[in-house]
Amino acid sequence: MRTVRAVDELRSALAPARREGSTIGLVPTMGALHEGHLSLIRRARRECDAVVVSLFVNPAQFDERGDLERYPREERRDAELAADAGADVLFAPSAEEVYPSGFATSVEVLGITERLEGASRGAEHFRGVSTVVTKLLGMALPDVAYFGQKDAQQLVVIRRLVADLNLPVRIQACPTVRERDGLAMSSRNARLDASERSRAVALSEGLREAAQRAAAGERSAQALLEAACAAMLARGVEPEYLELVDPETLLPCERLEGETLLAAAARIGQTRLIDNAILRPMHASSAIAGNAHPPSEQTLQRKAIA
Ligand code: PAJ
Repeated sequence: MRTVRAVDELRSALAPARREGSTIGLVPTMGALHEGHLSLIRRARRECDAVVVSLFVNPAQFDERGDLERYPREERRDAELAADAGADVLFAPSAEEVYPSGFATSVEVLGITERLEGASRGAEHFRGVSTVVTKLLGMALPDVAYFGQKDAQQLVVIRRLVADLNLPVRIQACPTVRERDGLAMSSRNARLDASERSRAVALSEGLREAAQRAAAGERSAQALLEAACAAMLARGVEPEYLELVDPETLLPCERLEGETLLAAAARIGQTRLIDNAILRPMHASSAIAGNAHPPSEQTLQRKAIA
């Protein structure tokens, strides 16, 4: 795997693949890689001829200064993990490379960014995400870009901007990778102390409770939300938001008719976590969005032996 820091270098590294008509996959990340990120990279490896992983802690999308400062930066470790998962190129630009002096453009998706995370974190967050993702797509010019269902609203916003700006890239959603107890993997989980970590499972338990009720035939949004909220409160976690929304418009639904997004955020101590589930009426087993688990110890051992 080659590490490049400048856009020119990235373009030259990808030039042979582009000349040969090979498919290029891009996995944008902010580093601190975990099994969730690695599942995206492995999928890109399976589906594309050349795989680029970008590693850039994007200052423009942080609404809290402390959050940006505390964000883990471990490039050497990330490079090893990305290479093992099958990346060909690691694109790790500096802030000056991404936002050179005189930079004056921003990409803003309207409407859907004002709800859920946008309502909690302010407009800058998705403006920062939309601008940097548009730039990364322009820099790497991938055929396919991979994003996690874990950040469901981010995925909806990116699909919208790609459609609205006619960008020639396919956006591939990947299931949420979870810890054994259901907690969605996140680089922020490392900030939880032992008691916060055991409470953090409240989010996925609440979502699962609603998914099970939906599978058992419950269609009322109010009843589903009350059940999810009660399960979270029972673990001592009060959701910052908990909403059942249309998966494209993100507008609230009153009844579960087709596929519906149940999205939640909560603060556990100082750490803000998000999670979501796709609810489908009457289909319990497929209801929690992404039931992917990281490889078991045994599988890892078997791989190590092989
Ligand atoms: P980051 O939080 O590093 O996440 C990079 C990608 O990994 C995103 O597409 C995210 O949805 C996915 N991901 C995170 N946790 C996951 C999990 N448990 N299972 C599956 N996928 C998971 O999201 C960002 O960075 C940034 O906003 C970015 C898109 C890179 C723009 O700066």
